[in-house]
Order: sequence, then C-alpha cells, then structure tokens
Amino acid sequence: MGVFYVTTPIYYPNAEPHIGHAYTTIMADVTARWRRLCGDDVFFLTGTDEHGLKLQKTAEERGIDPKSFVDQMSEVFKRYWSILGISYDRFIRTTDEDHVQAVRKALMKMYSKGLIYKGVYRGWYCTSCEAFYGPGEYIEEGGRKLCPSHRKPLELMEEETYFFKLSQFEDYVREQLSKDIVHPRGYAREVLSKIEREGLRDLSITRPKTRVYWGIEAPWDPNHTVYVWIDALLNYVSALGYPDNTSRLEKYWSVAHHFIGKDILWFHTAVWFAVLAAIDLPPPRKVIVHAFITLQGLKISKSVGNVVTIDALLQRYGNPDVVRYLLMRFSSLDKDVEFSAEQLDAAYNTELADTFGNLVRRVGVLAKKKLDGVVTRDRVDPELETSVRRAVDRAASALNSFRFSEALIAIFDVFREANAYLNRTEPWRSDSPNESLYNALECIRIGTSLLSPFMPRVAENLARSLGFEIGPFEALRMGAGEEYRVSEAPILFKKIRGGSAS
Ligand code: MSP
Repeated sequence: MGVFYVTTPIYYPNAEPHIGHAYTTIMADVTARWRRLCGDDVFFLTGTDEHGLKLQKTAEERGIDPKSFVDQMSEVFKRYWSILGISYDRFIRTTDEDHVQAVRKALMKMYSKGLIYKGVYRGWYCTSCEAFYGPGEYIEEGGRKLCPSHRKPLELMEEETYFFKLSQFEDYVREQLSKDIVHPRGYAREVLSKIEREGLRDLSITRPKTRVYWGIEAPWDPNHTVYVWIDALLNYVSALGYPDNTSRLEKYWSVAHHFIGKDILWFHTAVWFAVLAAIDLPPPRKVIVHAFITLQGLKISKSVGNVVTIDALLQRYGNPDVVRYLLMRFSSLDKDVEFSAEQLDAAYNTELADTFGNLVRRVGVLAKKKLDGVVTRDRVDPELETSVRRAVDRAASALNSFRFSEALIAIFDVFREANAYLNRTEPWRSDSPNESLYNALECIRIGTSLLSPFMPRVAENLARSLGFEIGPFEALRMGAGEEYRVSEAPILFKKIRGGSAS
C-alpha cells in the first residue's frame, strides 16, 4: 500500500469560486479518489488564502471587517466543494491558529539563519495577482503600465520591506527544476529560461502594517506583516503539523503532489523550493501544472469579468457528477481550453446519455425481464476480455500521469465495447441470455469502477441498482464479478436539446 499527499492551491475567498477553481479542485479530487481506489493512504488538502491586500480591500469596500468577511466566504467555498463531492481531508484557512504559528516559526527560522534582511522596495504592483512586475513583464500602453494577466493599471509602490535572500538559492532551484518534479516538463523549462534571463532576485516578503494590516505579523518586527504568498505557500506543510507535530509531515511530505494553474508556477517552483530549502525541507514530489479555461481566448477570471459560474453548469446538467465529468473530459495540462457550451452538450448527449446511459438501461431492463434480475458468473468472451484489459491499462496509465481526458476516453471504450458486444450477441432474442448479460455487466462494473473517481455518486448509485461493488483495482478484470442482483434499470442521464437536462 502506498502513501499519497495531494493539494490544490488555496483560493482567495474574495469572491465565490468559479469553474476555473472547480477545475483544479476536481483534478485533485479525481487523483485522490483514484489513489484510494488503488489502495493508497491518501491525505487531500484544500482551503482558502485569507490574508493580504486583496482581501483587506474587498472587505473594506463592503464595509465589513476582514475576519467576518473571510469567515463567510470560506463557508461558500466549503459549500461548493460539498456539492461537487470534493473529498478533502482538511480544509485549511490561513487564519487557522496552527497555520499562523507555523508561519511565524518558519519565518523566524529563516531570520535566525540570516536569510532575511531589511531594505527598500520600489516596484509596480498588481493587487489582483498580489505580485510585483518588473520591466519586460508588464505591458506598456499609452504611457501606462498594465498587469500582463489582468490588463489593469499597476500601482507604484515604494516602501520599507524585509527581503528573503532568494538569490542565494539560484543553483539549488535550477538543480531541482532539472529533475522530474514539474509536470509537464515544458513548464520547468519556462521557469528555467526566466531564471536564465533575469536571475533569481531577492524577494520582498513583508509589508508595512500601516498599508497591509490584514496579515500575519512578522515575528521579529511588529510593524510588518508577512507577504501573503509566503504565508500561503506554507499551508502545504502547516496543514501536516509543521513544525511541532511531525508525524504527518514525515509520513506525507515526501509524496506531496501540488496541483496548480500555470499562473502560479513561479511561486510554486522558484519561490517555494527555496523557502522549503531555507526551512530544511525537500521540494515536493510533484508540481502538476495545468493551463487555463478561457472564454474568447481570455482566462476566465473575476478580475477580467468573464466568469462562468459553477451554478450555471449545475443548473444546465442538474447533476454535480456531470459537471465533474465534463470539466475533466476537456481538461488539458499543456494547452488552454476554450469554454464551449455546444461541446459540453454534445459530450453529455453522446457519451453520457447514449453510450453509458443506454448501455445501463438496456442491460438492466433485460436482466430484470429475462432473469428476474439475477445474473451469475459465466464464460468470459475472450475477444471482449482482451479489449477491456487494454482499455483498463490505458485508463490506469493515463490516471497515473494526470491525463484525465485520455483516461475518460479509455473508460468509455469499455462501454462502447460492451454495446458492440450486445449488438453481436443479441441477448433480447435469446431465452438464456445469462452469458451475454454477465459479460455486459462485467464491462459496466469495470467501467463504472474506473469512472468512480470522476463520478463518485453516479457510480455508487449504479452499483447499488445493479448489485455490485466498486473496485478494488485488482478486481477490475473480466470474470472477477461473481453475481449481479439487479434491483432497477436506472435512466442515468436524460438527453438535452435547447433546454436543460433536469
Ligand atoms: N491564493 C493563490 C494561491 C495560493 S496557493 C499557495 C491564488 N488563488 S486564486 O484564487 O487566484 O486561484 C488561482 C488558481 O485557480 C489557479 O492557479 C488555478 O488553479 C485556478 N484557476 C483560476 N482560474 C482559472 C481558469 N480560468 N482556468 C483554469 N484554472 C483557473 O492564486
């Protein structure tokens, strides 16, 4: 049995989550559920990133104190994750007392090692990104400097700050980037070439409290608060009990898998690897980076104002598992995916309703009508067995390398094979259709088990209706199922046209 640690970014709770946040969170959840299906001991972490200027400003605009605001908003995130069936083990909030103490201790350690010094910072800041941009990074337009990500004017800031000696870690960071940590590899090359061009500059890691009061106080200077990104990154270790309760940290840290969007790659590599080294911890096992969901070519985001809400998809398909399926079906690590309602509807109709739904419905109806719902182990069709084995191998290897849409295509090949097999064997014409229905049910059991990380509730309900168990992975081969007791033949998905599915 293996051990596995999977994380999502902790999201800014300045607004409710949209499908971009759901996208990363579902990828991480599918991975957590897949590893559990394989028998691993999994710890799955998500949460909210509650400090910093962006939250401070949003709360001020609403005339509410920041803590009450983030209390409310973190509940909104939890509610969406519960609707979407996100199986996290801990929901961390950076205002949690254990996290605050961990950040103070980590920073004190860096300070005592002489890795932090006082200076003055002058630079152009984007509050939406909570990041500074230097020449060559920002966009110049009509004499103004704009954020490359949000295209909003940057603010010039000049103030006293404490710097972290990031530059000292340049060789170390380069060395880590040449290993197999960052996935896909192309993203590691991007970071390496940025370091090549600009070097690793020391990083401003505190803000004057007079400007940003909503943050963790720097342990060596009460006039400063800790930069929100340093506070946030440390959640991945504070959630495991760093630095005082080390048992979880020892168990899970070496198998840490961070899922992130490509917008926060720099922080999760250059900055994070160096901070970890500064507090004597090794880098994560993997940083899995995905591209954006876009609308008319622009990253979906609140700041851009082109959000597609989670509610819109929930309403259209009437089933959270369908939303999970569709977001993963068109997911991609290396290329942006353009949101397309037509494409989602088409996949819903042809794959979920036709291929999967019709298979389940016709097998269920026949089993009930012809065999009183009881189907017993029978001869396994050798041709079907071979194609199912191949599809299971493909799905497993895709899941192990985070190629979620490929995994779904392989899983649906099992259902497509089963439909073709039924058309060949025509159990509706037969008086003794046990063999044919047994083979088809085996395909449904195997395909549904592999689908369970993507559609956990659909899978559970179907297993109950047809009378089988989900998994374990070793049982995902033809002939492993002993008997089926079909109690109903559910209609899983109703087709949609112009309207909605529910
Ligand atoms: N709080 C920081 C992360 C700190 S982690 C130590 C942050 N938060 S965020 O709320 O802005 O979330 C950013 C993440 O949300 C992205 O990295 C990505 O995972 C996800 N996405 C937000 N919009 C997205 C798209 N349009 N498309 C894909 N993913 C998107 O950054």
